[in-house]
Amino acid sequence: MQHKISRDIFEQVMVPNYSPLPIIPVKGQGSKVWDQSGKEYIDFAGGIAVTALGHCHPTLTHALHQQVDKLWHLSNVYTNEPALELAKTLCDKTFADKVYFANSGAEANEAAFKLARKYAYDHDPLDDHSSDKNQIISCINSFHGRTLFTVSVGGQAKYCEGFKPIPAGITHVEFNNIKSLRDAISHKTCAVVLEPIQGEGGIITADPEFLKAARELCDQHSALLIYDEIQTGVGRTGKLFAYEHSGVTPDILTSAKALGGGFPIAAMLCTEAVAQSLNMGSHGSTYGGNPLGCAVANEVLHIIDTPQVLKGVQSKHQLFVEKLHLANQHYPLFKEIRGEGLLIGCELRPEYQGKARQLLQLALDEGVMVLIAGLNVIRLTPSLIIPDEEITQGMKHFEKAMESFIAHEVNQVNKNR
Ligand SMILES: Cc1ncc(COP(=O)(O)O)c(C=O)c1O
Repeated sequence: MQHKISRDIFEQVMVPNYSPLPIIPVKGQGSKVWDQSGKEYIDFAGGIAVTALGHCHPTLTHALHQQVDKLWHLSNVYTNEPALELAKTLCDKTFADKVYFANSGAEANEAAFKLARKYAYDHDPLDDHSSDKNQIISCINSFHGRTLFTVSVGGQAKYCEGFKPIPAGITHVEFNNIKSLRDAISHKTCAVVLEPIQGEGGIITADPEFLKAARELCDQHSALLIYDEIQTGVGRTGKLFAYEHSGVTPDILTSAKALGGGFPIAAMLCTEAVAQSLNMGSHGSTYGGNPLGCAVANEVLHIIDTPQVLKGVQSKHQLFVEKLHLANQHYPLFKEIRGEGLLIGCELRPEYQGKARQLLQLALDEGVMVLIAGLNVIRLTPSLIIPDEEITQGMKHFEKAMESFIAHEVNQVNKNR
């Protein structure tokens, strides 16, 4: 390395769209991470639901090394073996007949939203492409990525601030409110997009009745149902994809994050009928489906889609929730502990509103990495195969952070008296 690398370089040379924590992690193995000073952390964050098999899983590392020595890139002028294998596996394991590969969640969603509009255009009831069936309905507080289209479809207005004009034809309804969706949907709707569990929005699970109603309303109005499973997919909830829990099947599903276990790759899955609208030349990406990402993702699916790992997700959920409730009895910070599988949210009590990041910082000081989802929710998205002993160890650190948090709060109250 040419420069001595320290955290303050961030402010000097990086655009300020992030505010990274003060340490720089340099090494990861399984569910442990070490920073530049050698301090060890237990990783309950998993790179925001990405490193689903922990850091440097030997099978993934081996697959990547093998592919690195064989073939890196060809462009989509050619197809490649790992991409074909991955697409075939995804179709075999899901409702989907066809797959499109991208590099990030936002890009997979961008493809899904463009496809929904194109499908409506191709199936124009007036047969001359003059109908205005282009409305996309999504939910308040949803998150679908940061490109201009995906951020506009996302239901958090603050992320569109300063970027107007945003694409037209987008409506937001209340999550889990069937009436709100029924009132908004019409023959002009080309798609409804839902997260089975709102992740960035605070770990809120969709009611099965809401999902069923969304499917029925989409069918009634010839609209497509899109599931954004970028955070919930690839084993996170204890099934390969969360749609399997409710029995509601979407027409399009997007996957990213855990799919590559840390290597950037995303996929949009869809039915045969819908796929035909993404015809030759209508969409594309230089790197989407590159051999490196696909080689890793093949192994990710191979390992995660096994009863051992998926059942493990359920039992590790139980262990986390038990320990969190116990810690919360000692240090009552949370009003609710919720989520499915290893997508867990702990919402702060009203008196601690807005202080989730403070708790995250204290947890880091104690040696455990956690995440937030908004200002009031601590989010845990660890590796799906985190050993139980590391859950126990990490929870000890987290409980200490909860203790420090309360001590600090009590101090503040006393000071202000
Ligand atoms: C549900 C959901 N959709 C889309 C995205 C965007 O994915 P990416 O950051 O890979 O573009 C995210 C990322 O957090 C997400 O959680």
